[in-house]
Formats: sequence, C-alpha cells, structure tokens
Amino acid sequence: MSWFPILLAAHIVLAVALLLPSVLLPFVLRRNDGASHPATKALTTMQGTGTLIIATGLAITGTAMLLILGPELLTQPWLLVALTLYGINLVVAAVISRPNLRRLIGLSMAGADDDTWSRRARQQRYVAYGMASVIGVIGFLMSTKPNLW
Ligand code: HEM
Repeated sequence: MSWFPILLAAHIVLAVALLLPSVLLPFVLRRNDGASHPATKALTTMQGTGTLIIATGLAITGTAMLLILGPELLTQPWLLVALTLYGINLVVAAVISRPNLRRLIGLSMAGADDDTWSRRARQQRYVAYGMASVIGVIGFLMSTKPNLW
C-alpha cells in the first residue's frame, strides 16, 4: 500500500491549519475586550504554540514524502526556496508572534488602556499578514513546482 496519498493529504490539511490562524486572527484582534472571546483565545493559541506543533507535523509528513519521492528532490529550486521560507516563518512564529500574542493576552487580562493594546494588536496583525503570505507562497511553490532557475 502506498503511504504517499495519505501523507500528502495529511500534509495539505496541516498546511491549511497553519494558514488559518494567520488569516483569521487579524480580524478578531480589533477590540481590547475581544481578546477574552473563546474564538480569539483559540486562534491565539493556534498562532502561538500551535504554529510550532503544526509546523513539526508539516516537516514530518514533508520529510516522509521526500524519502518516498527521493532525496534528489532537495536539489529542486522550488523546494529549496519553500524550505527557506518555511524556516523563516518558524523563526518569526517562535521569536516574534508567540511572545507578542502572550503580551497581548497579558495586556487584556491586566486591563491595559486601549491605545497600548491597539498598538500591540496592530503589530500582531502585520505579523499575521506576513506569516499568511509566506505560507501562501510555500503552498504555491509546492503545488506548481515552478522552474525558478
Ligand atoms: C508552510 C509549510 C508548508 C506548506 C504550506 C506546504 C504545502 C504543500 C502543498 C500544498 C503540497 C501539495 C503539492 C501538490 O499539489 O502536489 C506539498 C507537497 C509537498 N511538500 Fe510541502 N508544505 C510545507 C512544508 C513542507 C516541508 C517543511 C517539507 C519538507 C520537509 C515539505 C515537503 C513536501 C513534499 C516532498 C511534497 C510533495 C511534492 C511532490 O508531490 O512532488 N513541505 N506541500
């Protein structure tokens, strides 16, 4: 039985799960009191710690597919660029996004003034837009496999 279709399906589901919080969070991060809403809490968790867990799943399913297709695929420019972007996104998630989200929740709990909260939320929205764009580019590269050079 070929594991490839199962791995590919799991990989694509994980890719969508990685993308969703980055796309949706900017919309819910608009009001200070919105941070206590269950949906916002779920999305902030998914964008924070969730990103690192989901990204690990992507690496495991991706590596398994690489082993099936042959490691020579790693010489393909589209995969090299996609994996570089993937690494950058992980660093942004761990070093910028997750701590920022924690601070935002902390500010809400502490009843910080709206200006401070709004400034932080705006920063996080831009981070989320950036992460969503990078994930979109990775998905495009892995689906179309363009001849980059
Ligand atoms: C944000 C991260 C990622 C996204 C959004 C993503 C997205 C995708 C998508 C949409 C496909 C299906 C392409 C198709 O239509 O056949 C795919 C295939 C694949 N991905 Fe990823 N992926 C990600 C991370 C990774 C990582 C980290 C690896 C390697 C360690 C990887 C290795 C692969 C491989 C080997 C395939 C199969 C390519 C083929 O069919 O020739 N991906 N990926």
